[in-house]
Amino acid sequence: MKRAKISIVGAGNVGATCAHWAAAAELGDIVLLDIPAAGDMPKGKALDLAEAAPIMKFDARVVGTTDYADTADSDVVVVTAGIPRKPGMSRDDLLATNAKIVGQVAENIAKTSPEAVVILVSNPLDAMAQRALEVTGFPKQRVIGQAGVLDTARFAAFIAAELDVSVEDVSAMLLGGHGDTMVPLASCTSVGGIPVTQLIPESRLAELIQRARTGGAEIVGLLKTGSAYYAPAAATVAMVEAVVRDKRRLFPCAAFCQEEYGVGGYFVGVPVILGDGGVKKIIELELTPSEREAFTRSVDAVKSLVAKMHELT
Ligand code: NAI
Ligand code: 2OP
Repeated sequence: MKRAKISIVGAGNVGATCAHWAAAAELGDIVLLDIPAAGDMPKGKALDLAEAAPIMKFDARVVGTTDYADTADSDVVVVTAGIPRKPGMSRDDLLATNAKIVGQVAENIAKTSPEAVVILVSNPLDAMAQRALEVTGFPKQRVIGQAGVLDTARFAAFIAAELDVSVEDVSAMLLGGHGDTMVPLASCTSVGGIPVTQLIPESRLAELIQRARTGGAEIVGLLKTGSAYYAPAAATVAMVEAVVRDKRRLFPCAAFCQEEYGVGGYFVGVPVILGDGGVKKIIELELTPSEREAFTRSVDAVKSLVAKMHELT
């Protein structure tokens, strides 16, 4: 069987960690790309990772580069290019810089890998996915943002710790943008099939939900020099796996919603079936009035960010 070709644009913390998890899982051959100003850094990281293969026992070709020609005809391109936030910054503070970077990256992807599924990671996530869709002109199912897999993983990790159960038994769902307005759905969260609302009192659950919402900032506050990368990369690679192995995972992803949920043409976190070719289907959930209200607030935040981005670009 032919190996998938997975290119990762941005060989920084998230990008290099994506390469690590994806190679270790033998998801395909990996190309790690950064800007020319990064010099040989992507080559160095790729070679270092390739030299781990005999020990960790994975077969994957790992190449570092600053030249898009090496990424040609990728099956999946992951975009982690851009600046991360520092303490005191919100994801939205990255808008101007990262919109420019993602625009330039998207132009290159459209030229070199016109059939690729593109997974956006750069922040502010929902606006960057919109930028990539607009610049590549790719069909909407082939441009997807990573946020919900990470945000639900954080929520699930907190629930598992609270109940002292395996993380494997926690299943969570979430809607909305990747920001403080995200909407973790207690009604769609269960532990071993038991609704979480039967296991954790409402007030404590509200605290865990709030911690998941601010999970990115919690890590930024601890690291001080950048933002999270282990869990973000693991989340991204789970999406890459769903695509290259056509797993048809049901994940919360930032998908372009037109009539779905009445969003009207924006990227927002919704449950999707992810497989070969990208988004196979967007699942529309029935929301309670309070969930609907929180979702609308979240979509409005995405809309105003996209409007700001359109003024800047
Ligand atoms: P980093 O600073 O470690 O790495 C970013 C890399 O992008 C650098 O190596 C830089 O040289 C490169 N880069 C800059 N401009 C480029 C261009 N035009 N083409 C190719 N590469 C370029 O940052 P980190 O921690 O890896 O974060 C990357 C982005 O991902 C940030 O915007 C961050 O906010 C976002 N992020 C998003 C998450 C999510 O859940 N969606 C989670 C974690 C981070
Ligand atoms: C996070 O949630 C920074 O968006 C990134 O960790």
